[in-house]
Amino acid sequence: MLKPQVFVALIIASAVALVHGRQTTVVPKAKFVPLHPAASTTSLQLTLVLPPTNIDGLHAALYNVSDHKSPNYGKHLSKSDVEAFVAPKPESVQAVTAWLAQHDIDVEVASPSGDMLRIDISVAKANELLAANFIEFKDKDTGATLTRTLSASIPDEVESHLQYLFPTTQFITPLHPNRPPFQVVSPTPEKPTSKRQGVDVCSIDVVPQCLEDYYHVPAAPGTAPGNSIAVAGYLNEIATEDDLEFFFLVWRPDVTTTPEFNVVSIDGGVTSGVGTSEASLDIQYTVGVATGVPTTLYSVGDSSPQGFIDIVNFLLGLDELPLVLTTSYGFNESDFQGSEDFANLSSSTFCNAYAQLGARGTSVFFASGDNGVYSFAFDSECDGTTFGPSFPSGCPFLTSVGATTGFDSGTEVVADFSGGGFSNIFPQPSYQSAAVKNYLDALGSTNAGLFNRTGRAYPDISAQGINYVTRINGTFFLLEGTSASTPVWASVVALLNDALLNAGKPPLGFINPLLYSEGAAALNDITSGSNTGCGAQGFPALAGWDPATGLGSPDYDKLLALVMGL
Ligand SMILES: *[C@@H]1O[C@H](CO)[C@@H](O)[C@H](O)[C@H]1NC(C)=O
Ligand SMILES: *[C@@H]1O[C@H](CO)[C@@H](O)[C@H](O)[C@H]1NC(C)=O
Ligand SMILES: *[C@@H]1O[C@H](CO)[C@@H](O)[C@H](O)[C@H]1NC(C)=O
Ligand SMILES: *[C@@H]1O[C@H](CO)[C@@H](O)[C@H](O)[C@H]1NC(C)=O
Ligand SMILES: *[C@@H]1O[C@H](CO)[C@@H](O)[C@H](O)[C@H]1NC(C)=O
Repeated sequence: MLKPQVFVALIIASAVALVHGRQTTVVPKAKFVPLHPAASTTSLQLTLVLPPTNIDGLHAALYNVSDHKSPNYGKHLSKSDVEAFVAPKPESVQAVTAWLAQHDIDVEVASPSGDMLRIDISVAKANELLAANFIEFKDKDTGATLTRTLSASIPDEVESHLQYLFPTTQFITPLHPNRPPFQVVSPTPEKPTSKRQGVDVCSIDVVPQCLEDYYHVPAAPGTAPGNSIAVAGYLNEIATEDDLEFFFLVWRPDVTTTPEFNVVSIDGGVTSGVGTSEASLDIQYTVGVATGVPTTLYSVGDSSPQGFIDIVNFLLGLDELPLVLTTSYGFNESDFQGSEDFANLSSSTFCNAYAQLGARGTSVFFASGDNGVYSFAFDSECDGTTFGPSFPSGCPFLTSVGATTGFDSGTEVVADFSGGGFSNIFPQPSYQSAAVKNYLDALGSTNAGLFNRTGRAYPDISAQGINYVTRINGTFFLLEGTSASTPVWASVVALLNDALLNAGKPPLGFINPLLYSEGAAALNDITSGSNTGCGAQGFPALAGWDPATGLGSPDYDKLLALVMGL
């Protein structure tokens, strides 16, 4: 159940008292039931995060290249520039490796900058190393088992050299196969009515042509060398060439070349199999909208937060990054919370990974969640006491995408499930403070006490999210969710990048500073509806930014004029 008041139970005991070394203690949510001590020979893979040399420098550099008024706009950092900011100090590497060597533990470097190390050790060894007691827990809600300890300590000599160590005391449930972040609405006829009859039909079935008509997305293929889209896949989801080809046959008859996409496996993710819904949706609405832009599905085998880190580390290791990364999955932010310390270190590990991608010129998109102000929970799990934001949408260094619905001119409204709200971990970045203040002033006392007025507010933008015609294992289905909206925005930005690259200009990279300034006028402002997730009143869409649809949906023509003029 999503009971946000329960997360205060996840605390670090004596957070300030421990001058000698650092002990972390947690009280997990009640849904985690201890089963039995972990077998001493069970193997554990732990990731150690060392403090970055200059994280403020990375953030400043990110804003510098992302602020279109800066002389450095678009001068994205090189791989080595970014690594210099986040690489650990030599004394940290020395202290941590010496400590592990004392325990005869081999270390593997797990990130290109060296800020993450990885060790594979037995439970017995981990218990000894960390004065821990690893136990098998079962998540009653999802059935997942987690090997975790209620307490872990690190010695004095590494205390200041080890920022974060996981998974030890972190009770974050992996993405769950039976809880996809979208809903299959209904199968649609095998042979859909042939040609679109104007946008009216789009209120029933959304296909690429609807998005082209309504958002002015060009149908002409992108041509710029070096352009690319990365789609993150989890839960062993896969898309197939057969489904994609049939989708094109029916819905993109204007395209005469065979559509294709690449698959790259990370953490042993599947590379073939029967097409599944989320991956098919994501591929059909990237390849099918960003015509001609090379698209790769990164199939990540680990659906825990570790997999979210592994894909970023994989990408950061490339010399040429994908210019857009779209992810239609997320977690509950409350899972990352506890003491401020815990929240800070766990969440900033992720958020700083996205900042690195942005600094190098990748636009990072995440779905905002599919249950309104209760992120990824289902109705039965909401208690109405406080709203439950999603993760990582609260990270200020990525672009969070909500959902809208309705195609008749001027009537695009909030899709009521559109995730939105305010982070309890990340403070509000300055690029959005004026927009958020306007909203809060207009909102008055509505929902007072249910959300954190000082937190990073999301989503940033939105797009249609209901009735997406998707071919899955040989049948057309209608899908809905911010899962649909997110690849559409990724495609819009990929096509903008195509025009920019062809004009010899840099790609858009981290777009939030631009969107919250001049960019807002190039979007369709959504002013009607609210995100009533869990039956809560939710946040109403109002003129300007709102925590249901962000700044609005794309108008490609206006966006193109804006970015080409930068
Ligand atoms: C969000 O929280 C609810 C309630 O604890 C849980 O059932 C659900 O699985 C969580 N969703 C994710 C994606 O972790
Ligand atoms: C930002 O850009 C300006 C102008 O090029 C430069 O002088 C400054 O050093 C940059 N700051 C950072 C933090 O990169
Ligand atoms: C972490 O802690 C610092 C100071 O304690 C605070 O300024 C910051 O906003 C916190 N949150 C994050 C996500 O860094
Ligand atoms: C509200 O958000 C801020 C970050 O902006 C955080 O420091 C604070 O702890 C949050 N408050 C609550 C009650 O979660
Ligand atoms: C995929 O389609 C085939 C052929 O219709 C069917 O036999 C199979 O059960 C389907 N698989 C899944 C997982 O739906």
